[in-house]
Amino acid sequence: MRQLSSAWMAGLAAGGLAAAVEVRAQQDTEGANAVLPWAYVLNDPAAAGADAPDPAEVVTVPGSSVSMPRSAININDGPPDWHPDAHPPMPEVVARGGGEGVVACGYCHLPNGQGKPENAGLAGQPYEYIVQQMTDWRNGLRRPGEPRMGPPAFMERIGLAATDEEARIAAEYFSSIDFKPWVDVVETDAVPKTRFAGWIHEVVEGGGAEPIGTRVVETPRDLKRTKLRDDASGFIAYVPSGAVGRGRRIVLTGGANSVACTVCHGPDLRGIGPVPALAGRSPSYMARQLYDLQTGVRNGAWSDLMDAAVKNLTPEDIVDIVAYTASLEP
Ligand code: HEC
Ligand code: HEC
Repeated sequence: MRQLSSAWMAGLAAGGLAAAVEVRAQQDTEGANAVLPWAYVLNDPAAAGADAPDPAEVVTVPGSSVSMPRSAININDGPPDWHPDAHPPMPEVVARGGGEGVVACGYCHLPNGQGKPENAGLAGQPYEYIVQQMTDWRNGLRRPGEPRMGPPAFMERIGLAATDEEARIAAEYFSSIDFKPWVDVVETDAVPKTRFAGWIHEVVEGGGAEPIGTRVVETPRDLKRTKLRDDASGFIAYVPSGAVGRGRRIVLTGGANSVACTVCHGPDLRGIGPVPALAGRSPSYMARQLYDLQTGVRNGAWSDLMDAAVKNLTPEDIVDIVAYTASLEP
């Protein structure tokens, strides 16, 4: 395994996620986490004495003939590929990583590029768009909105390190794959109680329910499979009652605070030309982008095109918009 250069990277690789990640003071009152704590997730302190799973245990996932010891799961230069027949052959940079600091894209974005709430779905995004984002990172134009959230800060370091050639190879691979339905959107007034671990919401077993308030609670359909990095196991997004309809109105008309999105992102929000697709993708990721574009920490070559759309959005608008975009067929 590659040498890891910081405490939280080591924690991620150790797989204990919450367990090994340095415990920090959470839920502070400043920064992006204070505005959208459900999107810029900061881990809760690890429960004292939590059992670490046995690294020698042989694990597998439904629908796969692959098996491996648990210790082979969190390997950032050779992450598990449970369903090798369900995606094209991965180039080296996706499967194992590239030069110094360029961690295997498939480690976080998954081999099929479906991605997770703490990162992004890359499958099916336009080639030119992916290449442009990598260029923006390299030029320091895409900064993380909440530097204490590990994965986006890690992506920034990878974007700074990746070469044009590595970016092009990865872009070619991910843009060639269809993005599959991945997020079930459920409107509700009450959600299962969750805790923050591994930079996502984890349902607290036996924790009961709590009011949803103004947030999106995106959580694995099957936490065990997500922890095993199974790229065939998606997510549920609980959203406030009525959010999807309110979001639809903003997307189609601009509503009171924005402009119609469909002119640029396409009538079904599946993207047009180099403009990215939004439909069916992680609402947590999309919320971070709307806020990062609004605050200007994401200020890439094409970001000005989003100015009118994001300038006056409220946190409530963001909840509604991403509830709607996630609910669409990709
Ligand atoms: C350590 C985990 C990790 C690895 C490894 C990783 N990424 Fe990412 N990537 C992220 C995160 C997290 C985000 C979302 C950042 C945010 O929320 O602002 C992201 C976002 C992206 C995006 C933006 C998608 C969009 O819709 O704008 C692109 C493009 C991307 N990554 C490409 C790559 C490529 C290419 C590689 C391999 C060379 C790679 N990533 C490796 C974590 C990772
Ligand atoms: C004038 C064209 C235009 C309009 C109108 C527009 N967008 Fe965008 N949008 C873009 C472009 C171009 C990008 C890529 C920006 C970049 O590269 O930084 C983008 C990026 C995004 C992203 C980030 C996607 C990702 O994968 O990281 C989101 C989310 C988004 N737009 C949502 C919306 C919503 C919601 C609306 C309507 C309220 C909207 N956009 C209206 C052109 C537009």
